[in-house]
Amino acid sequence: MYFWFKIFHLAGVVLWIGPPLGAYLMQLYILNKQDKSGPTALIVRRAFIAVLTLEHAALALLMAGALAMLWYGEWVFLTFFWIQMKILIFCLVIIPIEILDIWWGQISPVLALRRDKTQDSFSPELVRIFRRYDRFVYFSIPFLLISWTIFFYLAAAKPT
Ligand code: HEM
Repeated sequence: MYFWFKIFHLAGVVLWIGPPLGAYLMQLYILNKQDKSGPTALIVRRAFIAVLTLEHAALALLMAGALAMLWYGEWVFLTFFWIQMKILIFCLVIIPIEILDIWWGQISPVLALRRDKTQDSFSPELVRIFRRYDRFVYFSIPFLLISWTIFFYLAAAKPT
């Protein structure tokens, strides 16, 4: 049973980090090659929102796996330093970033896309929403890279 919880946790980690990172680099590449607010850009933005949905489902899987392992171990893990550090970084860095990511990257653009009747070009509202999201991503990337490195160090080295 514990084994499966760990698999869920690790599958969550892989799907949380991998697909959005790849999709983000591809989006940057495509948007830099052509008009940032043309029909292709809109398709790319919609595809990226779909990847964000996968990312947030993966985060839920990562969390569910982690909680299940803590529960299965009768919460003894909570007395370990490396778990305490993981939880601290998760609460201070990851949760705030993910709340903004869901709000600015998913909910706001999806609502604006529904309001936008043209569907094949960017309304001024959509331009503003995507600019805000792009600025947020630039700001978050260093924090994410540092946090991921620390998470993997804590998971592999398990310092006491
Ligand atoms: C609050 C958040 C988290 C908690 C409570 C948590 C908890 C745990 C627990 C209990 C284990 C099992 C350790 C063992 O069997 O010895 C584990 C393994 C692991 N976690 Fe997390 N985790 C969290 C977040 C993360 C994050 C965000 C990442 C990566 C970015 C991550 C990467 C890993 C890896 C790679 C392992 C496998 C380590 C091994 O088998 O030696 N964890 N985690």
